[in-house]
Amino acid sequence: MFYLTTAIDYTNGSPHIGHAYEKVLADVIARYRRLRGDEVYFLTGVDQHGQKVQQTAEKEGVHPATYVKRTTKKFSNLWEKLGVRYDGWAETTDDRHKACVGAILSSLKESGQLYKKSKKDLYSVRQEQFLTDRDRNEQGEFGPEWGEVIEIEEENWYFRLSDHADWLVSFIERTEDFVLPAFRRNEVLNALQRSPGLDLCISRPKSRLRWGIEFPFDPEYVTYVWFDALINYISFAGYQSGSGDLPDFGKLWSENDRRPVHIIGKDILVPAHGIYWLIMLHAMGFPDDQIPQLLVHGFWNGLRGEKMSKSLGNIVDPSELADKFGVDAVRYYLVRDITTGKDSDFDLDRLLMLFNTELANALGNLCNRALNMSQNFTGGVITTTGELTADDLALRESLATSLADYRAAMDEYDISRGLEAINRHVVHCNGYAERMKPWEMNKEWKTSNDPALKARIATVLYHLAESVAHAAVLLSPVLPEASAKLAAQLSLPGLEDIKLPALAWGLIPDGHAIGKPKPVFPRIAPPEQE
Ligand code: ME8
Ligand code: MG
Repeated sequence: MFYLTTAIDYTNGSPHIGHAYEKVLADVIARYRRLRGDEVYFLTGVDQHGQKVQQTAEKEGVHPATYVKRTTKKFSNLWEKLGVRYDGWAETTDDRHKACVGAILSSLKESGQLYKKSKKDLYSVRQEQFLTDRDRNEQGEFGPEWGEVIEIEEENWYFRLSDHADWLVSFIERTEDFVLPAFRRNEVLNALQRSPGLDLCISRPKSRLRWGIEFPFDPEYVTYVWFDALINYISFAGYQSGSGDLPDFGKLWSENDRRPVHIIGKDILVPAHGIYWLIMLHAMGFPDDQIPQLLVHGFWNGLRGEKMSKSLGNIVDPSELADKFGVDAVRYYLVRDITTGKDSDFDLDRLLMLFNTELANALGNLCNRALNMSQNFTGGVITTTGELTADDLALRESLATSLADYRAAMDEYDISRGLEAINRHVVHCNGYAERMKPWEMNKEWKTSNDPALKARIATVLYHLAESVAHAAVLLSPVLPEASAKLAAQLSLPGLEDIKLPALAWGLIPDGHAIGKPKPVFPRIAPPEQE
């Protein structure tokens, strides 16, 4: 079983392009693994507790529960619009999740891993939060954004993180692939070296924060938002739930021969996932071979690498984008113009260029040629038995190479390289069509009536149509709807059930009648300059 999760998004606002990227990336990976033949369980959802939610709800004069209900809908609506098809949905205000968090707190307390102590710390009155050295600016001071900074003493619950720091270092050293891409590994190790021996404060007094999960053994306290949120990966997988409507935890996690994969952005690797979460699991008694793998993606920035922010006014609304340019263009761009693990600059011109070049022109052209000419020259019937030339063999070779490159790239979660591999074959096919010129052969046949010529036309069109059928299968994780349309036009509904290991030349049987062609990737006109 391939158990795949994403980060759960904060619901103190609207979904942005970074959220959309992560969910589309996860959806593409889930669909690709299914295509490979794996059984997949894909969990995503929302993070509904915490200070920010409480503050925004107060500002809007509504109860936090009402507020998160409203914002959660914006996220789930967007995933529906973008075709993100998940198996499980996590909401941290769900009673089943709360029960699981409570049970974990109680058992950690019982095993002596939690303690309560009083600590004096610097506190920002304006932001209503404690400050650490990381909040200081380059001059080593707390900037004006923090307002008045005072020292206050507060009693809280702490988790003995430091007891497990040595285990984590040795686990990381033994487990090369606990984080992907591998260059992120040192970030975790460096962070452990920089600040060893710090325990994690996991509570907030209700006087300061009400909107959280209550401690079962100390009802004046709620859990720190990260402690609550991280647990979603196991609570919604059925851990200690006893709830019949959640998955069987053994199947997803404890008896699974494959470690779960968490997809997260680079900002939440250290310390949240790389340190807190791995140590939490270890402290709960999870053995090393059940520690999940972290797939860390990079960030979408504004043009010229600017951070996207409300003040710069460069936030892209993924829902508007899909309304304007279509879901296919958005899904394609989000995984095509970024290398998994690295950052990229969001550029509308590139979105249009990549869609128009690789889909509308290259693939669209191939589909139209294959289907239209088959309808016009061979009555829509495919003949597979013609004699093969060196050009035909080279086309088959190109497809085999593209398929191998695609698989290697997709297995490494490098979607962009996988799409490039498909595109290389599509470009090869268009070159083949231009060299073979079936339209000229057909003109010539009209005067000569030479049956050998007719057979040759059929063979060329067969190679084009068979390539379209392969492209439909390989594109299906990224563009499931377009791919279904192509399968329908080829009259090959069975394409949707094909698994990658069985994918081979010969998808179209001899004598097969294809359907009516209709453009699947209409060219997008650039928007009017404002
Ligand atoms: O961190 N580009 O929620 P979040 C790409 N609730 N990815 C981005 C991004 C960008 N510009 N901005 C954010 C949280 N992300 C917590 C997670 S998990 C137990 C709790 C990614 O709404 C970010 O890295 O701030 C994270 O993976 C996800 O969006 C949610 O971010
Ligand atoms: Mg964030």
